[in-house]
Parts: sequence; C-alpha cells; structure tokens
Amino acid sequence: MQLITTKKALFEVVSHAKSTGKTIGFVPTMGALHNGHLTLVKRCVSENDLCFVSVFVNPTQFNDKNDLANYPRTLEADAQLLASVGCQFVFAPNADEMYDAEEMQKPFEFDFGGLDEVMEGRFRPGHFNGVVQVVSKLFQLVQPTRAYFGEKDFQQLAIIRRMVTIMNFPVEIVGCPIVREESGLALSSRNALLTPEQRQLAVHISQVLKESCLFALETPVHELHDALVAAVNAREGLEVEYFEIVDGKTLQPIEKWEETNDIVGCITVYCGKIRLIDNIRYK
Ligand code: PAJ
Repeated sequence: MQLITTKKALFEVVSHAKSTGKTIGFVPTMGALHNGHLTLVKRCVSENDLCFVSVFVNPTQFNDKNDLANYPRTLEADAQLLASVGCQFVFAPNADEMYDAEEMQKPFEFDFGGLDEVMEGRFRPGHFNGVVQVVSKLFQLVQPTRAYFGEKDFQQLAIIRRMVTIMNFPVEIVGCPIVREESGLALSSRNALLTPEQRQLAVHISQVLKESCLFALETPVHELHDALVAAVNAREGLEVEYFEIVDGKTLQPIEKWEETNDIVGCITVYCGKIRLIDNIRYK
C-alpha cells in the first residue's frame, strides 16, 4: 500500500491508473478508522481495480473548534488497517496541501436546494459547506469511478448525491448500510471519546430507535416523535439535540406516514459532551 501526502504525487498515480483504463474506487474518511469505515473499504476493494482512501480531518467542516481539536488522529494505525483489507492507496494530506489561506477563511458556496436547512445543517451551520468543499476537491483529484459513503451520515449522503448531480461528477455514489456493534450502537470515531459508562448509556439510542419500529406506522407521527425523544431523555446523561422523521429524499419532516414510501428517523444525542448520530428506516 502506498501512502501519498501531496496532490502532485496523487495526480501522478491517478493519471497512470486512468491511462491504463483501471476503475478507481474511493472512500473519503477523516481517519480514526473502525469497522464501519472498513466495511466501506472492503466493498470498494471488491468492486474496483484500485481502491483509494483519503484520511483527512477537514477543518472547514468543523463549526466547533474544540470538536476539531479533540477529533481522534491515528494515521499509523489507520494505515495498517487499510493495508490489511487490501486498500492500495491512502491519501493523507495536511490542511495546507488541501487549502490556501483564503479557502480556509471563506465559506464555500453551494446551492443545497434546502437539504442543509434541517437537522445537522441547522445545528452545525456551515458544516455541509465544508463537506461539499472537501469532497468536491477530493473527487477532482482522485477522479473515482465509484465513491462509497455510509448511511449513518444520512443527510451527508443525500447532499453528496445532489453535489454530484449539480457539479456533473462522472462518479457512481454507493450508499452503504450502518455498521453497528453487537449491542446496536452505531460505530463512530467519536465512540472512542466515551467513557465505559457512557458507552453503556449510548446503547439506548439504537435500542429506542429499533423499538420504535414495532409500533411506528400505527402511531401518529408527532406522537411517535415525542415518545421517542422522551424515552431517550429519560436516561440521565443522554440529551436529544433533535429527532426528525423525514422524507428520505427531500429530508423535509413528514406529518403523516402515507405522505411517502421513503421515511427515515434521524437523531442526534449528546452523551455527556460527545455528540452521537444515528438513524432508522421506517419505510
Ligand atoms: P467519517 O466520519 O470519517 O466517515 C467516513 C465515511 O464512513 C462516511 O461515509 C460515513 O458515513 C461512513 N461511516 C462512519 N461510520 C459508519 C458506520 N457505523 N456504518 C457505516 N458507515 C459509516 O463522513 C466523513 O468522515 C466526512 O464528512 C467526509 C465525507 C470524509 C468529508 O470530510
């Protein structure tokens, strides 16, 4: 496996791959890799001639400086894991390699068509501008045939699909199911920041989501919403930031189950100071 840190070196590798007609699979990440990431990487390896993974903690998508400073950085361990699952190229640039000073300061403009006005977009202003900024740059550099994203970040996946349509990237976006611990807790790099007690507590998030599926469609949407929020908040140490039951395509909240056949419940919960996200498909 080759570790690449400059755009120039990446350009040479990609040009060679393109000139020999190889398909390029790509998994963008911020590192601190876990089995969720590795599931995407394994699929990428199996479906393409070459697999590229980026490891870059993108400063422009963090609206909270502490969150950026505390984000786990484990490049050496990440590289070993990636080599063990057959990834051929890791692109791990530093921030100066990716951005000039002006780009770091100025918010990246993109027409989200309203997709950024709800959920993560509402609570993390500017977050998705940074995500689109970095992913569009990475797509220009890596020129992937296919790119893999997790459904765990449901809103991110919807926004990336829109970005590809609007910016005409010739790439197939592959959405991959959420990978969970046996307990049900969705794998996340931020889980590493939880104390053992908080980890136990965090399991309730996925449990409550799963249980809600049993009676969801027979319960009025707003009642299910309120009951679920109350059930999570009832655990001391957990606090719901938002729970939205939305149309899976437009991400707009729904009022009745009959409105569409694509319905997802998206939740963000603070477990102490750690912000965790999860979601569940109702329809
Ligand atoms: P990161 O949080 O590192 O996630 C990288 C990819 O792994 C994303 O597509 C995410 O949805 C997926 N992923 C994370 N946990 C998962 C799980 N438990 N099951 C399935 N997939 C999972 O998302 C980002 O990085 C960044 O925003 C990025 C797209 C790299 C842009 O900086």
